[in-house]
Amino acid sequence: MQRRYLIAGNWKMNGSLAANAELLTGLLARQNDRSNDFPDIESLVCPPAVYLESVRQRIGDGPILLGAQNLSDQHKAGAYTGEILGAMLAELGCSYVIVGHSERRAYYGEDDATVARKFAAAQAAGLRPILCVGETLEQREGGMTETVLERQLGAVIAACGIGAFARAVVAYEPVWAIGTGRTASPEQAQAAHAYLRGQLAVQDAKIANSTRILYGGSVKADNAAALLCCADVDGGLIGGASLKAAEFLAICAAAQALNKT
Ligand code: PGA
Repeated sequence: MQRRYLIAGNWKMNGSLAANAELLTGLLARQNDRSNDFPDIESLVCPPAVYLESVRQRIGDGPILLGAQNLSDQHKAGAYTGEILGAMLAELGCSYVIVGHSERRAYYGEDDATVARKFAAAQAAGLRPILCVGETLEQREGGMTETVLERQLGAVIAACGIGAFARAVVAYEPVWAIGTGRTASPEQAQAAHAYLRGQLAVQDAKIANSTRILYGGSVKADNAAALLCCADVDGGLIGGASLKAAEFLAICAAAQALNKT
């Protein structure tokens, strides 16, 4: 089974109309050079929700895909002040949405049950969820990494069924590596990814084999290739480095060069 690399930029709560325009000019300049600069990978940007429409207008139907960072756990429109329905994101051209990012778990009280509901709501709207899982430093040092991953992934499998992963992506994001400049070593990443794939395989070997598992946590142009070449690493969820066009494109180029397909 061949899994196409996915390089996803998570802009988090960054940007402005002017800054986004500059970043997109950088991202699109290279892709306009040769219409399909990275023909064998998927690349995705996930700007703050208020900028989705303006970003969509810039990227058009080109090779860069659009995603959101969060969505409501509701399946229908209604009186939920401040929330954004999955169908609204789909209408704006999003194909993916990040769910369960550790910042949402840590700062906005999202527990496994909430994350599972958001995962289901995303799929109901035709969006592909990118389910983030990962352990804190304390959990890693306490030998709890696999227990945490099993719990976080297991909650979604239990709620949504293994079949749901045919239209989803998993992202392994060790909390201690996010925004810290400290990356998991390729060996640590590979071990966690293989564990996650094994958890999927217990339920369904075919789905386990086809599900992409991204690595996230201080991925940069200079460490991307070493992480992406691990057997079970199928792409990256890129925070800080996705705000710099040259860095993000270099990570895309690393994936293209390693292209597994
Ligand atoms: P980082 O963030 O690349 O800035 O570490 C990754 C993420 O949180 O998705």
